[in-house]
Amino acid sequence: MSDSFRDWMKATQANFELSLAGFLPAGDVVPERLHQAMRYAALDGGKRVRPLLVYAAGRLFDAPAALLARAATALEMIHAYSLVHDDMPCMDDDALRRGKPTVHVQYDEATALLVGDALQAQAFLVLSQADGEGDGDAGQASRKLAMVRLLAQAAGSVGMCGGQAIDLASVGLALTQAQLEQMHRLKTGALLRASVLMGAMGGKTLTTVETEALDSYAAAIGLAFQVVDDVLDATADSATLGKTAGKDAADNKPTYVSILGLEASRLLAEKLCSDAHAALLPFGEKAQQLHDLADLIVQRKA
Ligand code: IPE
Ligand code: IPE
Ligand code: MG
Ligand code: MG
Ligand code: MG
Repeated sequence: MSDSFRDWMKATQANFELSLAGFLPAGDVVPERLHQAMRYAALDGGKRVRPLLVYAAGRLFDAPAALLARAATALEMIHAYSLVHDDMPCMDDDALRRGKPTVHVQYDEATALLVGDALQAQAFLVLSQADGEGDGDAGQASRKLAMVRLLAQAAGSVGMCGGQAIDLASVGLALTQAQLEQMHRLKTGALLRASVLMGAMGGKTLTTVETEALDSYAAAIGLAFQVVDDVLDATADSATLGKTAGKDAADNKPTYVSILGLEASRLLAEKLCSDAHAALLPFGEKAQQLHDLADLIVQRKA
């Protein structure tokens, strides 16, 4: 990974943090405790991979910055909500997230439930609101509607929520590799795919060929991301991860590690990274950041 990629990543993460903070209700607005808990869940933590993908894909077709900020914020709000609910006692029952006590531990279960609900609603509010720039542009309006639709699909029962349902129903089962792949593609891949496509469509209406190339890239990094998450759960420590390590085995979850073993899982992640790189070739140099993000997803240590 080059220095220029690292510099871009740091600057983008810092800008994104400010934008996200601005799009969340302030902590002194009634109901204060709920708004404070939403800010606790969303701000100051996380790798911000989905926003980075939005900005990197937006660069392919010079999407306006204000629109990318809204798309990136909406994606991260949905992701943050999914983590809050994923950690609740009725799901994975985790006490640590992003190096801090989980929302239901820091606040309470009902608040955690509402934080997730409200972050999800806020995501669609932010994405659908006007921001001045390009508002009179009919093309941008229709692309924004397409983004709302894509995000709704990716977050719902045929996307992230569907994957979470399969995950919970699979505890203790010996899934086939195909079943495991389907679960991972939904619970994690769907939002990552939406990040790539929403960023790109911020700049123009995508052709079928462009959509297919971006879809291949997104499918590869989406699956790789969760394969690496499974590997890190089995190999890293809680302090590095900022979440409880070893939780998948303790909970008897089927994972790539439990089904393929560690070495084959690592090799699969590397192969998916090469697939992702290959899919970007038609975009040339403009796709350098997406290329480097695939490396980041596979080489990350947390
Ligand atoms: C963790 O996602 C949950 C999965 C979908 C695997 P991230 O690894 O992106 O978590 P943060 O946002 O960096 O905390
Ligand atoms: C969760 O997968 C994916 C989500 C949709 C939140 P995991 O349960 O493996 O995520 P972690 O390991 O708790 O972050
Ligand atoms: Mg889970
Ligand atoms: Mg979990
Ligand atoms: Mg995990």
